[in-house]
Amino acid sequence: MKEYCWATLGCGEIARQLAENMKKRGKALYGVGNRTYENAVKFAQTYGVEKVYHNVHDIFHDDKVDIIYISTPHNTHITYLIEALKSGKHVLCEKSVTLNSAELAEAADLAGKNNLVLAEAMTIYHMPLYKKLQEVVKSGQLGPLRFVQMNFGSYKDYDMENRFFNRNLAGGALLDIGVYALSFARWFMTEAPDQILSQVKLAPSGVDEQAGILLMNSQQEMATISLSLHAKQPKRGTVAFDKGYIEIYEYPRADKAVITYTEDNRQEVIEAGNTDDALLYEILDMEKAVSGEADEMHLEYTTDVMNMMTRIRSDWNMKYPEEG
Ligand SMILES: NC(=O)c1ccc[n+]([C@@H]2O[C@H](COP(=O)([O-])OP(=O)(O)OC[C@H]3O[C@@H](n4cnc5c(N)ncnc54)[C@H](OP(=O)(O)O)[C@@H]3O)[C@@H](O)[C@H]2O)c1
Repeated sequence: MKEYCWATLGCGEIARQLAENMKKRGKALYGVGNRTYENAVKFAQTYGVEKVYHNVHDIFHDDKVDIIYISTPHNTHITYLIEALKSGKHVLCEKSVTLNSAELAEAADLAGKNNLVLAEAMTIYHMPLYKKLQEVVKSGQLGPLRFVQMNFGSYKDYDMENRFFNRNLAGGALLDIGVYALSFARWFMTEAPDQILSQVKLAPSGVDEQAGILLMNSQQEMATISLSLHAKQPKRGTVAFDKGYIEIYEYPRADKAVITYTEDNRQEVIEAGNTDDALLYEILDMEKAVSGEADEMHLEYTTDVMNMMTRIRSDWNMKYPEEG
């Protein structure tokens, strides 16, 4: 496979993880562009990045760059996505890929027209454990899917200015952590839900602080999801079938699950991959997609999840400033 040249737009916490994981495959990230140039310089020094762009937009016009990784706040993604895709760059964009379905449709259309890969950096789709579990489910040994249960609770400082609670930075539980829980549910459900009920508690800033979501599709597969930005919850997902259930620990970057077969109470421990390598799996799948070897980026799931989030926020009448 060709050696692809990556550059990151944004150099915060998650970009640091990407840079570390790039090194694991013996190749440094090539370029970095960032709103604050000095932070990009520090980042480049730490991770041995060759090119630092003085102007963020120069990243799009560097002929050497094949793939751009976008790791800035959610509400900045669409502008950068459009510019990258118009410039002929493949894009791996952090979650949530856009604010809503209309933005995602615009980006996906551009990617399709320009024959480029557009993908959301959703670790669940790339961890070996989830791939293995999907094989078990598809084998039919557990019978039909009935219920998915997923909690995501994270205790964030009650500061309405930080990116978790700030409306102007597209904060809120749904886009920040709900996207993982919905992606988890979608991974196991055989089709997208068409019925959605939810309840929300808003933070003083007007973003969703806590929510309960109930999903059902035409196969009558159901999922319940509880989200909070201000109460820690165990990182555990349960997927229940006619003949047993799967418990997944330390979701979303999980590397261990236990299957209980309820007919004889037999338990099977499944271990695959490594939590610490989560971003490495994303990088490798992205390169396979760009090379045409295999497309495991699952933009179709990203689209279903974005449609759910758009509908849920519409039910809450919750808009970001960019949405008028
Ligand atoms: N942290 C995680 O564990 C994690 C995990 C998965 C996904 N993500 C996603 O990754 C993205 C970034 O998260 P993070 O935790 O890395 O954030 P972070 O540490 O706060 O870094 C944010 C980056 O975005 C830049 N930035 C901030 N506001 C901007 C703006 N208005 N325009 C352009 N650039 C701006 C910052 O530049 P400056 O240097 O100028 O401040 C910085 O490089 C989010 O979409 C998040 O949901 C994060």
